[in-house]
Amino acid sequence: MEEDIRIVEAAESNLDDLCRLCIPPERQADPSFMKGVELKKIWARDIIKQWGSVAKIAYLEGTPAGLIQYIPVLEEMVVYITCIFVPHREHWRRGVGRRLLTSLIEDMRNPKSWFSGESPSALVTRPFPGEKPGQYPARSFFRDMGFKQVGEDPSLLYYPLKHGFVYRPVEQKKPIYIHQEDDRGKVVIMYNPSFCLWSYVFLKRSEQEIREAVQSLHVRWINSWEEPIEAKKRGISEGIIVNGRLISSFMLDDREAFIKEVLAALE
Ligand SMILES: CC(C)(COP(=O)(O)OP(=O)(O)OC[C@H]1O[C@@H](n2cnc3c(N)ncnc32)[C@H](O)[C@@H]1OP(=O)(O)O)[C@@H](O)C(=O)NCCC(=O)NCCS
Repeated sequence: MEEDIRIVEAAESNLDDLCRLCIPPERQADPSFMKGVELKKIWARDIIKQWGSVAKIAYLEGTPAGLIQYIPVLEEMVVYITCIFVPHREHWRRGVGRRLLTSLIEDMRNPKSWFSGESPSALVTRPFPGEKPGQYPARSFFRDMGFKQVGEDPSLLYYPLKHGFVYRPVEQKKPIYIHQEDDRGKVVIMYNPSFCLWSYVFLKRSEQEIREAVQSLHVRWINSWEEPIEAKKRGISEGIIVNGRLISSFMLDDREAFIKEVLAALE
């Protein structure tokens, strides 16, 4: 029997669904996630005001079951998919992901005001491994759905929306941290509100790890949206700076390497 799946554009009326869907059920009351939801809502309101839309939510038998998030890239005339996710096991493999993506493809065949009334040339994505244990990876899903690899880079995929279009990404300069004397002797955690509330949760966890490893350290949070001048002078909008050095290890990938780098920066 055909599943009852409804795809709805993200809007003020369903912001709660958009911002809470990815929270694991056992973390619904966790303060880090609550704060992440609050920050994501601010981000979503702002971006909806700017672009009219940023995401689609799938309702399976009336329950929020999945989302796809995207953003127009004006200089490339493409739409970048930042995330697709069907978080809960009971919703997997019931056609939710496919419906979300096909809905986006259909929508993006239409003219868009972002592109001065033209339709985008392609959908582009760099899926990150955020799947739950036993879940199907986004990269395999996009390949199944007809996305092609960009050049030699297996992690960058695209789906042409115009006949014969071949995507060639515009070279992006990697942001480099500009040292500030003011960052010495403390931890500066730079946060950039975005489509993913997990990024706030990960930074919060990193802060906890640092506080456990090093007592009585001053920690300053900078929200790059609220303090754009602070972000601009550092050249980066997200990251952890310890005693004036940007930490390159990612706490969740390798906790030991992360703490080692933090301690070395403090020497
Ligand atoms: C990829 C994902 C969106 C698919 O969602 P879904 O609703 O379960 O997928 P669908 O039922 O729509 O399946 C669509 C197609 O994907 C493929 N597919 C999905 N799950 C599969 C599985 N377990 N095994 C093999 N193929 C699979 C199949 O080609 C399927 O088509 P078919 O059913 O006609 O064979 C979902 O598994 C997911 O969220 N994965 C994690 C993605 C992620 O890491 N996001 C970032 C999180 S922060």
